[in-house]
Amino acid sequence: MRVVFLGAPGVGKGTQADRIAARFQVAKISTGDLLREAVRNQTTLGIEAKNYMDQGKLVPDAVVIGLVREKLADPSCANGFVLDGFPRTVPQAEELERVLALKGTPLDRVVNFQVSREDIVKRLSGRRSCPKCQATFHVDFARPKVDGVCDRCGESLVQRSDDRRDAIETRLKVYDEQTAPLVHYYDERKLLSPMDASGAVDMVFQHLSQSLAPYRMT
Ligand code: AP5
Repeated sequence: MRVVFLGAPGVGKGTQADRIAARFQVAKISTGDLLREAVRNQTTLGIEAKNYMDQGKLVPDAVVIGLVREKLADPSCANGFVLDGFPRTVPQAEELERVLALKGTPLDRVVNFQVSREDIVKRLSGRRSCPKCQATFHVDFARPKVDGVCDRCGESLVQRSDDRRDAIETRLKVYDEQTAPLVHYYDERKLLSPMDASGAVDMVFQHLSQSLAPYRMT
């Protein structure tokens, strides 16, 4: 299974990518997680990326393309992958197409997550994340067992620096300008599957699992 999860910030791509990767035994590749890890480790790449991320802007294409290329070559992707948050620009999509064509493993599907803007803002402003294992929670919709503590690893949960109101606005604007054109890009290639992601997490997961089941063995 080789799929891309496309959609505005906060539609639930990361939440569902974790579950789909576990259900279908494929790798989850999240460029947001990879970049946050680089920021935490204060690598040269992380120091460069932090400024863009805090403001809600996209990190330059060359940086993220390099990260994804490296991940796709990893043996953990042998069974397939879910790409979460990549591609986000047309040049990123073109490069992904080139890399996968060279390997003879084209994409199976691109799932386009759809949620109203009002719900997106609620989801992002209430999100709490684990800085250690990257698990995601929500103060109302996905509460951890103990308030403020990660269920998975016990670390204290934090609010992401780009989940502030002003950064959320910038991220949505950046999505409209730079990422939304990918809907047309993948529609033209007959790869796009729209997904109403406005329901509860379990319900969205059920629909998603059903729609991706045909690609289990590809
Ligand atoms: P990234 O981490 O990818 O952020 P994003 O796309 O903005 O996506 P989010 O993580 O905000 O949302 P999501 O859709 O994954 O939602 P989630 O499941 O967490 O990127 C961060 C930054 O890195 C970018 O701004 C950019 O600077 C840089 N970057 C990353 N990739 C890049 C690229 N390719 N090119 C250039 N720059 C790049 O859910 C959100 C909340 O809602 C959670 O609290 C969750 O619990 C809750 N929730 C989820 N589903 C539901 C549901 N069904 N009902 C109720 N609540 C729900």
